[in-house]
Amino acid sequence: MMLTAKRFFSAAGAPADLARECEFFSSLKMRNGTFKLTRPSRFAVVEERFAPMVRARVKGPCAVLDIGASTGLTTIELADFLRAQGAVPRVVGTDLFIDAHLVDLAPGVHVLADPDGWPLQYGVAGVGIRAWVRRLDYVTLAVLPRLLARSMLRPRLRRRIAAGASLPVRMESRALVGQAIRLVENDIFVREPSFAARFDFIRAANILNLGYFRPERLRVAIANIHAYSRGPGALLLVVKTDGSKHDGTLFELGPEGDFQVLARIGRGSEIEGLVLEAAAATRQGEVS
Ligand SMILES: C[S@@+](CC[C@H](N)C(=O)[O-])C[C@H]1O[C@@H](n2cnc3c(N)ncnc32)[C@H](O)[C@@H]1O
Repeated sequence: MMLTAKRFFSAAGAPADLARECEFFSSLKMRNGTFKLTRPSRFAVVEERFAPMVRARVKGPCAVLDIGASTGLTTIELADFLRAQGAVPRVVGTDLFIDAHLVDLAPGVHVLADPDGWPLQYGVAGVGIRAWVRRLDYVTLAVLPRLLARSMLRPRLRRRIAAGASLPVRMESRALVGQAIRLVENDIFVREPSFAARFDFIRAANILNLGYFRPERLRVAIANIHAYSRGPGALLLVVKTDGSKHDGTLFELGPEGDFQVLARIGRGSEIEGLVLEAAAATRQGEVS
């Protein structure tokens, strides 16, 4: 039985139960079709694979950006990994969806929604019910009540949130408490001027996927990442995970400002070609 958002957030302040936390957040699908899915220690083999290259390049103080960080759990692990390689990382994790709201609709009925009123989970009589539609729902016809509930509730949720009649919550890991990591809302498709030429190490894990976004959109994200990289020698890790299998590429920004492949895991990143053409496209003003 799925834990309700109300129950989950009412335990704020309790010691972090990472497995339970991940199970809860991983069940949430965002408005743009991405999931909050993350798992503790999911990148252990990725870190082991790339450790020698990272150790040789990232030493002492360095600025780190984790894009699509979800709850920040694996961002903490990234910071630990970099420290183990001899770095002193200052870490920023970004995600498009961090703030959310609990809205009571009737006795025993509440909704977890994003700030725009998009339902993420329903809570009915202590049972958590997913708000998103999956393929099987089209077969069982469960798609109809789900779509109806969303379109009918969304304006109401949006009004209640705007009127302050909701409990604001943050979709972040309790393990972040006491960590020197900033988790901030940011859209990788919108250029953030304060990030320009700032980061020595950038990770985009399970976010820049062809299954989520079309190549034209991904080119925009990659151009932003390019602009956020400090300069020659900066590293970019792009990885996609399927169960215990990872396909990823570690890139280094070369002296000419082009990303170059340093190493791969699995089959390499599925967007490797788009990353390799990034600097040239930016120079020619094709992407902004
Ligand atoms: C599958 S999770 C990946 C979490 C973590 N990086 C990992 O691999 O365990 C994808 C995350 O990307 C976030 N996201 C979706 N669209 C985004 C965007 N345009 N900019 C930044 N983050 C985004 C989602 O909210 C979600 O938390």
